[in-house]
Amino acid sequence: MPKDFSTMEDSNRSSNPDIHSVSDPARRTLVRGGLSAVVAGLFAPLLPGCATPGGPGAGGAKLGFKSVPVTAGDRLVVPEGYVARVLAPWGEPVGVAGDMPAFKPDASNTAAEQAVQMGMHHDGVHFYPLGSGSDHGLLVMNHEYTDDGLLHADGMATWSAEKVRKSQAAHGISVIELQRQDATWEVVRPSRYARRITAYTPFRVAGPAAGHALLRTAADPEGRRVLGTFNNCASGKTPWGTYLAGEENFFGYFHGPAEPDAHARRWGLKPNGWGYRWHEHDERFDATRHPNEPNRFGWIVEIDPMDPTSTPVKRTALGRGTHEGATVAVTRDGRAVVYSGEDARFEYIYKFVSRDAIRPGGAQANRDLLDHGTLYVARFDAGGRGAWLPLVHGSGPLTAANGFADQGEVLVKGRQASDLLGGTKMDRPEWLTVDSERREVYCSLTNNTSRGTEGQPPVDAANPRAANSMGQIIRWKEDGDFDGLAFSWNHFVLAGDPANENPDARGNVKGDFFGSPDGLFMDPRGVLWIETDASSTTMGKGDYARLPQNMMLAADVTTGEIRRFLVGPPGCEVTGATMAPDLCTLFVNIQHPGETPSERSDPAAPGRYSSWPDGNGGRPRSATVVIRRQDGGIIGT
Ligand code: FEO
Ligand code: CA
Ligand code: CA
Repeated sequence: MPKDFSTMEDSNRSSNPDIHSVSDPARRTLVRGGLSAVVAGLFAPLLPGCATPGGPGAGGAKLGFKSVPVTAGDRLVVPEGYVARVLAPWGEPVGVAGDMPAFKPDASNTAAEQAVQMGMHHDGVHFYPLGSGSDHGLLVMNHEYTDDGLLHADGMATWSAEKVRKSQAAHGISVIELQRQDATWEVVRPSRYARRITAYTPFRVAGPAAGHALLRTAADPEGRRVLGTFNNCASGKTPWGTYLAGEENFFGYFHGPAEPDAHARRWGLKPNGWGYRWHEHDERFDATRHPNEPNRFGWIVEIDPMDPTSTPVKRTALGRGTHEGATVAVTRDGRAVVYSGEDARFEYIYKFVSRDAIRPGGAQANRDLLDHGTLYVARFDAGGRGAWLPLVHGSGPLTAANGFADQGEVLVKGRQASDLLGGTKMDRPEWLTVDSERREVYCSLTNNTSRGTEGQPPVDAANPRAANSMGQIIRWKEDGDFDGLAFSWNHFVLAGDPANENPDARGNVKGDFFGSPDGLFMDPRGVLWIETDASSTTMGKGDYARLPQNMMLAADVTTGEIRRFLVGPPGCEVTGATMAPDLCTLFVNIQHPGETPSERSDPAAPGRYSSWPDGNGGRPRSATVVIRRQDGGIIGT
């Protein structure tokens, strides 16, 4: 039954205890960053440049805005005193000189035009300052997937090689240049940085699995050059200035065998995949003919947005999985630790610890940093402790006798290796973010409606609710430093609706209701921003007349208070968030407004459920939203 969430009372059910009661000696008080002195100089300054009433001073309340209610309507809502403006929706030209085709609202742009326009379904995003930083920079973002009912004028009818190419061109990553004039940000066009990376951009393969027999194909007998990246969901920004993206549900793009072998079955290959139909006109997506092609996806990719001619790289040392994204922490001695999760039911959380320290000198000086190090899978034990289990060939069960010929095979078959090691099967790990002051890591576990159901893994300490429709945010602190082999953990919050008829779905939110946490972003003030991706399916509504209203909330991690900051248009997911260094501009992505849970849009009525942001019944378009305070102050205070 639809109900008015705006009438819900605040609740106060969780004390959200700290993991370690002793504060870290490296703690900073004004503006956080918590970076190792070794690498701090590599970062742009984080000091706020926009004075604000009630600013971020030490000891002040972290959340200073008035909570927004969950309201119906085909619009986006932000708190009083804030202004949200749409920037760079799907189909706008990215700004490649001499090639800036306008978006056609009837979706009649060609594949070649789409390849220089913003992709569909904006997701993870990061801001890379240029010059002084808070009025000029690059915005780099993922385009996770396509709704082919919207992408083509007549949807998936008359399926063709041109439509496959357009779908592939609407995936991947965009780099755009932005400039702010007073309160208004605009895309700079043309820009020498403007770039699209698509499902057919050439990538170099690096790390222990590069050249492995499992990565070789007829088109690439060396196993070192892969075309494209897709289903890029969350993203990470490295201290050396590059961008990381996960390749999430890659298996859904392949036509798999009717009778899969154990490897294909473990990775979810099946005939026709998730219905993208790329294999009908691009045979490398027919895994029955090219069984190694799926092994070339599921990696974390790295791009250098500052060099538009650079070749993007697949970093195999970080392991293969349906990676949501990748988040970087830095040890006190300057090594990179990359956290990632697989957003799938009963899959794993990983971390990679680099062998070497980050070097001054940016991307070029660290071009091989992520190729050498150790990958681990997490085991969350009862009692609030956990351990990191190394995915190292020859270690424990990861031997030739158990089907792992070498380290490359351990990485390609990361799931099978984690199964043998006994990693904890989690409730769909999505984004991770690092509180670098407290040196804690947060991960959203979005939901898992199969948990504890017949034939499925039971509840455990870290994943404590059966048929979990609401999800939880887990956090941990490593013993010693980020490279620690053991950790202490607890739940920051069990998401839920205190008025839900199901007691298991009520959660312990101290503040505003939410479900299905997905995007996470710890800002430099120590505010944890939470973005939600609840579907009608997971919320148990199934009512297309009232699609779930997804939202963004801000959490004070010291008090545990969670306050709703933004509500998106119907059917959208709120995902990806980044700030300009002065913390006075927040960029948020709104993905798939108007989407129904299980079907592609009807091309005869593309605006049936939402026409955001253009209105007037037109095609809904994913877009970046630029949020500022009317007084120009710091976001969230
Ligand atoms: Fe692409 Fe896991 O959301
Ligand atoms: Ca996500
Ligand atoms: Ca999600």
